[in-house]
Amino acid sequence: MRKTIEFLFNGEPRRLAKFDPNMTVLRYIRESERATGSKEGCAEGDCGACTAVVAELSDGALRYRAVNSCIQLLGTLDGKALMTVESLKHNGKLHRAQQAMVAEHGSQCGFCTPGFIMSMFAGLQAEVQPTHQAINELLAGNLCRCTGYTPILNAAKNVLKSGVDEEWAARGEDLKDKLQKLSVDSGVRTWEERDRFVIPLSVDELAAYLVEHPDAALVAGGTDLGVRITKNHKEYQSLVYLGRIPELKQIENLPEGVRLGAAVTYDAGRQVLAQLSPSIGQLVGRIGAVQVRNLGTIGGNIANGSPIGDMPPALIAANAELTLRRGAEVRKIALEDYFIAYGRQDIHPGEFIESIWIPRPAPSAILKVYKISKRIEQDISSVCGAFNIEIDNTAAQPTVTKARICFGGMAGIPLRATACEDFLEGRAWSDDTILRAREILENTYEPLSDARASSAYRNRIAGNLLYKYFLESRTSTEVGVQAAHA
Ligand SMILES: Cc1cc2nc3c(=O)[nH]c(=O)nc-3n(C[C@H](O)[C@H](O)[C@H](O)COP(=O)(O)OP(=O)(O)OC[C@H]3O[C@@H](n4cnc5c(N)ncnc54)[C@H](O)[C@@H]3O)c2cc1C
Ligand code: FES
Ligand code: FES
Repeated sequence: MRKTIEFLFNGEPRRLAKFDPNMTVLRYIRESERATGSKEGCAEGDCGACTAVVAELSDGALRYRAVNSCIQLLGTLDGKALMTVESLKHNGKLHRAQQAMVAEHGSQCGFCTPGFIMSMFAGLQAEVQPTHQAINELLAGNLCRCTGYTPILNAAKNVLKSGVDEEWAARGEDLKDKLQKLSVDSGVRTWEERDRFVIPLSVDELAAYLVEHPDAALVAGGTDLGVRITKNHKEYQSLVYLGRIPELKQIENLPEGVRLGAAVTYDAGRQVLAQLSPSIGQLVGRIGAVQVRNLGTIGGNIANGSPIGDMPPALIAANAELTLRRGAEVRKIALEDYFIAYGRQDIHPGEFIESIWIPRPAPSAILKVYKISKRIEQDISSVCGAFNIEIDNTAAQPTVTKARICFGGMAGIPLRATACEDFLEGRAWSDDTILRAREILENTYEPLSDARASSAYRNRIAGNLLYKYFLESRTSTEVGVQAAHA
């Protein structure tokens, strides 16, 4: 068992024994490494001024990902290479992303610029295509308050069009070599009994540790937990990182459905979820921005228990099941039963979510999710409605055989609309049925009014989404993830 974490900082090895488990990567970069290119704008993953790139080995190749260093925790860098804007200039020459920003006048005060550069650098390494849509997605997590986006988008287009980064390819080989030389083949328990960062390398190791230390908090991507540290000033004494446990990162794509390890990130799970349901795939693309999707996990979204988390309504409508584990004991529960009341979930001390099973929708079902938020990118839901309705089209009149409808943002937990489901089942899939079902739905919930939407708006939108689903179900099986333009 190691007492240190090891990683590369701008290509140089680092080994740390004693560090505050609550230390963010950004604090480490600025305060310990004194590399001040990465900035703190919001400290909650929204603005991208802190964007750094983390590279890790995956099947022998290096994968580069842009991350929000303000909410990522230092301990999660174990075995990885962290790169900041300071590392891009090479042999006295600016990187081509930096050159492009200069050429296009993409910077004014410069506060946001290192973040944009690092997102472009990650995009270049990932061979993101220079299309309008791909560039928007790449840069959606970076905000600029002064330049105006056109020069920045033009710079990104020029960078991505410029093709393989030959110069960086050579530096990448060197990075790979150095990563392979890190001694990170065993788990970690940093030396302090309190102020401890723990990195198990197997699910058995995790389960055993949590039985002994049921008070330890888990961290997967840290995109919720990191914000608690930076914004609520929460201080954890002991954190257990899930991101180096292969079983929790496993994706099984089976004929009957998909099983996701609890620590599968949005980025890793997006493709398989899109194959299972294009609408859920689109929903994943609407969660945060690239930097959040590179870190955030689907298990974390569920465990966090937020009434406006986006995955639970979609996965409850899909009839997903959770596997929970404590020591050697494993239990399975329907995802909807996990949410008991606001802030209360069916999980015991020392227990953790191991995996999520999502059955493939029935051939006669149309599964659609609609996320209503004020902005398309980087915004959380006011309401998220998911419909999984099976329709028998062989009868003279198409008839509903099964209905699962679930909403987020309408109650203290993601909650099924069972009265509406019961009404629909066995009825003709017709205008008349839908108008009556819509009325039932609009009277099912007692949502809160808050900064995002009023109670009346939420009820109205719930009914409207059912009607929209109905209209779309008659014309196509296309997906319906949309933003409301308030
Ligand atoms: C800028 C920004 C934008 C966001 N946008 C969205 C959005 O559009 N939609 C949305 O739904 N969410 C959004 N989020 C919230 C967040 O990204 C998601 O909830 C994410 O899925 C959390 O996953 P994580 O791995 O980062 O969780 P973490 O922060 O690591 O953990 C969250 C909680 O779950 C617990 N936990 C994690 N894994 C397990 C496990 N396996 N078993 C038991 N407990 C566990 C942790 O202890 C912690 O309490 C956003 C967050 C940010 C910062
Ligand atoms: S400082 Fe704003 S995203 Fe990190
Ligand atoms: S150049 Fe000032 S915030 Fe972007």
